[in-house]
Amino acid sequence: NSYKPCDLVIYGALGDLSKRKLLISLYRLEKSNLLEPDTRIIGVDRLEETSAGFVEIAHKSLVAFLHNTINEEIWQRFSQRLSYLKIDLTQPDQYRQLNNAVDAEKRVMVNYFAVAPFLFKNICQGLHSCGVLTPESRMVMEKPIGHDLKSSKEINDVVADVFHEDQVYRIDHYLGKETVLNLLALRFANSIFTTNWNHNTIDHIQITVGEDIGIEGRWEYFDKTGQLRDMLQNHLLQILTFVAMEPPADLSAESIHMEKIKVLKSLRPITVRNVEEKTVRGQYTAGFIKGSAVPGYLEEEGANKESTTESFVAIRVDIDNWRWAGVPFYMRTGKRMPNKRTEIVVNFKQLPHNIFKDSFRELPANKLVIHLQPNEGVDVVMLNKVPGIDGNIKLQQTKLDLSFSETFKKNSIFGGYEKLILEALRGNPTLFLSREEIEQAWTWVDSIQDAWAHSHSAPKSYPAGSWGPIASVALLARDGRAWEE
Ligand code: BG6
Repeated sequence: NSYKPCDLVIYGALGDLSKRKLLISLYRLEKSNLLEPDTRIIGVDRLEETSAGFVEIAHKSLVAFLHNTINEEIWQRFSQRLSYLKIDLTQPDQYRQLNNAVDAEKRVMVNYFAVAPFLFKNICQGLHSCGVLTPESRMVMEKPIGHDLKSSKEINDVVADVFHEDQVYRIDHYLGKETVLNLLALRFANSIFTTNWNHNTIDHIQITVGEDIGIEGRWEYFDKTGQLRDMLQNHLLQILTFVAMEPPADLSAESIHMEKIKVLKSLRPITVRNVEEKTVRGQYTAGFIKGSAVPGYLEEEGANKESTTESFVAIRVDIDNWRWAGVPFYMRTGKRMPNKRTEIVVNFKQLPHNIFKDSFRELPANKLVIHLQPNEGVDVVMLNKVPGIDGNIKLQQTKLDLSFSETFKKNSIFGGYEKLILEALRGNPTLFLSREEIEQAWTWVDSIQDAWAHSHSAPKSYPAGSWGPIASVALLARDGRAWEE
């Protein structure tokens, strides 16, 4: 588990991402003894602050987000790693301070860009000109990496001027989730699934990423972005690639990236001609979540009342390759759904003949349900005989269910950020995205965005607390199918 100690430099250390996610995840890694003793965390931001002040800010964030569950001894150890540098990221000469702060001989410099992408160029140039980078240095960035193919290429180009592709760690926090990774195990370590994972046995696959939260004060960002770019371009497509890819040659980053790119290249483009039939855009109106009234999208604080941005998307995706010919993938994701639920449902084909007509006029097909959140686990939905001696064989749908928290009681389940930050510190790029992957995903998402722009249709409304517009039900009903309840 040991790795060369790092100087983790967080640009934007006083910002939201740093306070809400990074510092908390780092503390949790500390708690599990997963941070190398010599690793240091250097916060960089433009505000006047001292290292002691930064330590205090970090403590406040931990108290706020971990609800006072801070262990004093662990905190003491953690806080000693923290220091702060005031750098105006737009001023090249100020980067020289980093030369004294980091120690390239003893530690790997890991640069975490927790700032808006418009600052990336400044940071890259600043780091380059002060000469602090070595071939060992890394940079970590996360979405939004652009809002379309063109802007994504611009960001990747700016970074590529200074960092080689194998120094770049692009985060999609869904790839840090246990159950997404478990897809590799499930698919490639279990013969019952390996041999049945294709168009011969699978009817269709559903991917649902529902959130009960709304915009959470992020109206400005979200309204420019929308659910397609905010969630589907990255998180849902990542899940899809793990479900659909061919077996990689090994677990190296290169082999996995290669297989994921092949899936992305096989996505059938959505065009102006089929966009109405294959996609649904929705926007929530006022409604109730778990019994509490919530405002509609256009009534959120700071809302532009004319906005046509979607807070829900459902799409029928066809993958044009040998394995998945004729097997649709239905994906849906939305804000203000009844509850937080992320799952993959693999629906197997129905049997060709039914000898249990007394129980079912049509035998329900088997399903494999992979729960990503809130409770990680895997269910196999199957038919069993109901015990009894009344002479009839009566069947019932039952579940073989594996709950991760029950089965792996002794192992802590880490959050996505913890896992990914640790992998970046260790220098293992497998769970990060390659440039080609991101650009390929944008190519496909741009086709949808363009088709929507041409069709000029407004998003369909759905009340907060529902699973999206009726049109989403119709999307599957047209194909004789229904969303998993
Ligand atoms: C982020 C999106 O990437 O993922 C948010 O920008 C969304 O809009 C969040 O709420 C969901 O992440 P998780 O891990 O809570 O499912």
